[in-house]
Amino acid sequence: VEINLEDQFQARIDADISIEPKDWMPDAYRKTLIRQISQHAHSELVGMLPEGNWITRAPSLKRKSILLSKVQDEAGHGLYLYSAAETLGASRDQMLADLHSGKAKYSSIFNYPTLSWADMGCVGWLVDGAAILNQVPLCRTSYGPYARAMVRVCKEESFHQRQGFEIMQTLCEGAPEQKAMAQEALNRWWWPTLMMFGPKDADSPNTAQSMNWRIKRFTNDELRQKFVDMMVPQAEFLGLTVPDPAVKWNEARQAYDFGEVNWEEFWNVVKGNGMCNQDRLGARVKAHEEGAWVREAALAHAKKRAERAET
Ligand code: 3HC
Repeated sequence: VEINLEDQFQARIDADISIEPKDWMPDAYRKTLIRQISQHAHSELVGMLPEGNWITRAPSLKRKSILLSKVQDEAGHGLYLYSAAETLGASRDQMLADLHSGKAKYSSIFNYPTLSWADMGCVGWLVDGAAILNQVPLCRTSYGPYARAMVRVCKEESFHQRQGFEIMQTLCEGAPEQKAMAQEALNRWWWPTLMMFGPKDADSPNTAQSMNWRIKRFTNDELRQKFVDMMVPQAEFLGLTVPDPAVKWNEARQAYDFGEVNWEEFWNVVKGNGMCNQDRLGARVKAHEEGAWVREAALAHAKKRAERAET
């Protein structure tokens, strides 16, 4: 009986044996992974910007140092992810060039502005909460280097989520003005966070194949539902109201019903026309250009060391 490579590959996936860089894999599997991992890496880098905005304005030294280390963590996540993509043959220079030219995608969520300190609470609580829900299953994704990178990322991400919730809790237990600030931030972040999970399954071109390859372990809609089920009780605990009148416990489904995401807004942001898209890309390009001397110095240093080792 002749068994072809593609069948053997799928059999390994079905048996939950991880795929490693030197293993044979279909071109489309490699391409899908490079796409997803690089988009994920870009999201970590661009994700530093909305919070970076508040480092100089954090309300206390303690808050400032926590925020600073959180933003540094995101940079680290980006670096592990670029490395994971490199194991598939992607070039880091090319990935960055695609980000800077606007060709590559990154998460829609980072194209919204962070207007008040309560936004640091919402980004940690909601955005990092959504990131964890999406990323914990990725610790079991079929490609080994991606799965292993996710383990550490998820540990750091749960610290980020806790610190965000704690900011929200402090505001909600504070003065009426602080509580109002928390509610106002939730009103702005709720819907964009639901969009992070991607289009509805019926409109998601990649989900079916990625589930089959066990790159994704849950569909976009499954994760969005889990998110709503997790967050509605947390909002209630904080004394806040989720800005969706359709949110209602459904006894039969044992899950919350919720309203429809504004998909026109979602695609508009993905296409580059969100509130902050231009700002975010501008900031990334500027940082890259201003960092050129560091890259040159590092290369010169490495060259000098290599020459010294030869003699
Ligand atoms: N923002 C921007 N683009 C999005 C998107 C979003 N929220 N959701 C989906 N898209 C894009 C997809 O990338 C895909 O683009 P492409 O085919 O042109 O490359 C297209 O819309 C269709 O969507 P699909 O559902 O078919 O795509 P996927 O199967 O890739 O699913 C995903 C999308 C669920 C985001 C998946 O890629 C994924 O799980 N990625 C890994 C996690 C990730 O990237 N998270 C980023 C935000 S969290 C974060 O950065 C951590 C924080 O702490 C900073």
